Amino acid sequence: ADPRPGPAGFSNPVVYAHRGASAYAPENTLAAIDLAMRLGFAWVENDVQRTRDGVLVVVHDDTLARTTDVEQRYPDRKPWRVKDFTAAEIAGLDAGSWFSEGFAGARVPTLRQYLARVQRNQQRLLLEIKKPELYPGIERETLKVLDEAGWLDERHVSGRLVVQSFSADSVRAVHDLRPDLVTAFLGTPAVADLPKYARFTDRINPWHTTISAGYVAAVHNLLGAHGKAMEVDTWIVDDPATARKVRDMGVDGIITNAPDVVRKAIGGY
Ligand code: G3P
Ligand code: CA
Repeated sequence: ADPRPGPAGFSNPVVYAHRGASAYAPENTLAAIDLAMRLGFAWVENDVQRTRDGVLVVVHDDTLARTTDVEQRYPDRKPWRVKDFTAAEIAGLDAGSWFSEGFAGARVPTLRQYLARVQRNQQRLLLEIKKPELYPGIERETLKVLDEAGWLDERHVSGRLVVQSFSADSVRAVHDLRPDLVTAFLGTPAVADLPKYARFTDRINPWHTTISAGYVAAVHNLLGAHGKAMEVDTWIVDDPATARKVRDMGVDGIITNAPDVVRKAIGGY
């Protein structure tokens, strides 16, 4: 039975905590996923990039300036790109104070640390490979870390992990390397092009302003890479009216910084 409450014959969308519960805690930190857990959310979304010495870390921007104290710590290293700093340097940054003093000392987690916490929290992960054009080979490296952390076993692959990217090449690379893994393409391909995407992905994840009920139905009408109807998870929806609007369009998931607000608006879990 589908555990999600909703009108007869329908399921409410799954709610994903975007960068963790990032309306209330600094994005992509362990505090943000812990808070999502305490609010009752299983699915968290994150962004994966690579340090100068080849360590995968969880951070959204391709520079560290907005979400850490890197400018004060390393004033002469503008523009403070993630790929120009070592893992040890990044581990020493404060990734919480920019958000609020109550989170001072929060860190940029490595992907390994992040996976361990998601696992401990019994959560599920929508992992975004961010800006893969900056990090050649990051798909294979991400899969290696996932594998070593036990995230590519049947239990995870069958419902606890989705890998997504704005880069179709990156999504295709992940699919080719691990055809059993569920993937999503971030964007809104033209309806005529959807069959091409269906060869290597299972989900189409568009910005909410770009979709309609007709578009969602067109995605649902296709069988994805694993032979099931393709699904749609849309982002970033933080207000009740938009949440109800995309729910009524038939989306399968809503990716939000404020998961509690969305759940209150649409029900579900
Ligand atoms: O998961 C969807 C969303 O994260 C895509 O945009 O820029 O927040 O990574 P962005
Ligand atoms: Ca993201």
